[in-house]
Amino acid sequence: MDTSREYARACDGADPLSAFAERFDVPGLYMDGNSLGPVSRDAARTLERVREEWRRLAIEGWTDGDPPWFGYAERLGDRVAGLVGAAPEEVVVANATTVNVHALVDTFLDSGTVVVNELDFPSDHYALRAQLRRRGLDPDDHLVVVESRDGRTVEEADMIDALDDDVELLFMPSVLYRSGQLFDVERLTAAAHDHGALAGFDLAHSVGVVDHDLSGAGVDFAVWCHYKYCNAGPGAPAGLYVDERHFGRRPALPGWWGHEKATQFEMDLEFTPAAGAGAYQIGTPPLLSLAPLEGALDVLEAAGIGAVREKSVALTEYLIELVDERLPECSVGTPRESARRGGHVAVEHPDAEAVSAALKRRDVVVDYRPPNVVRVCPSPLYTSFEDVHRAVGRFRTVLDEGYDGVAVDADVT
Ligand SMILES: Cc1ncc(COP(=O)(O)O)c(C=O)c1O
Repeated sequence: MDTSREYARACDGADPLSAFAERFDVPGLYMDGNSLGPVSRDAARTLERVREEWRRLAIEGWTDGDPPWFGYAERLGDRVAGLVGAAPEEVVVANATTVNVHALVDTFLDSGTVVVNELDFPSDHYALRAQLRRRGLDPDDHLVVVESRDGRTVEEADMIDALDDDVELLFMPSVLYRSGQLFDVERLTAAAHDHGALAGFDLAHSVGVVDHDLSGAGVDFAVWCHYKYCNAGPGAPAGLYVDERHFGRRPALPGWWGHEKATQFEMDLEFTPAAGAGAYQIGTPPLLSLAPLEGALDVLEAAGIGAVREKSVALTEYLIELVDERLPECSVGTPRESARRGGHVAVEHPDAEAVSAALKRRDVVVDYRPPNVVRVCPSPLYTSFEDVHRAVGRFRTVLDEGYDGVAVDADVT
């Protein structure tokens, strides 16, 4: 593969998404969109509109906002459904990702065993262990944690081997947060169903950069956030999906916002759940945190998730080639087959923490994940091939000129 700057410029010249970068305000060479996506003009516009509606309308914003704030989370959910391959009523925007893990696992888990993997994002394990304890079950016995063979990735075959007829739930990420391995959601779901188990997924590292077909795959439920590849802002409300065949279930953590909308303000003390995924909302949506998602979705929909995924695969492939060629001190911890790779690349180096800090001082915004990973994320809506070339050039300079200095703390997401 040609890795020259000229090649990068040629790729940028042929890139159908290149104009989208102008819509974003990006600090430095920003390669951290898998932690927090940057603001776009569009997200700022919808945030400003709701702020102004609050000033002008106050309480009337719930009915007279444009669109009305009442039902806003459901309408945004209808649009997010298009990103994850679901019917509109199967998706809602609500809560935080971890709250949604609790809300859905508490609803769907009876008293059986859950299968997970050891490279998961810790919050999911905290929630699952707590849910098992609430049922009087010892998590050390009932949370089966499949090990990684290489410390980076998890074999799908090992996940499938861990399933037996005592397993009630297989809970997996779509993409591992550290190495960026992408799993075959359909294959894992089918394997869980073969054993009579449910399949739930944490899609935090894929929604907005990988195209999904949750309904087609038969996934039972899923959760994700919108502050990474969807660029909806820090702490933006999360998303959740419940397959329509489960719509009859009663949410385990009901709240008035999940009530059937038409009768919510009758204030009946008996909870009547909304018909679809909206039933899993709990309290009033934080409008000012929700509003940027509307503009952020305008951008993603205009680009098209298929084109976003295509460019992401090309950018990460180019990045991997450059790391191989120009950073021989580093290794790539991310699968090289594009079908097994999400939107970021794990560049491994024994001094990853100091290297990450030195890159940030040179305006290359990456993050460090212990013990040895510099995560580099060329998010497709605002990253060019030339940016990737430039970032790896600065990485080379950091390795050549030294990276001692102030260390940074591991980021929180
Ligand atoms: C894979 C994964 N799951 C869950 C979370 C936690 O999300 P939240 O803070 O919205 O609960 C994160 C946060 O980055 C994550 O990466």
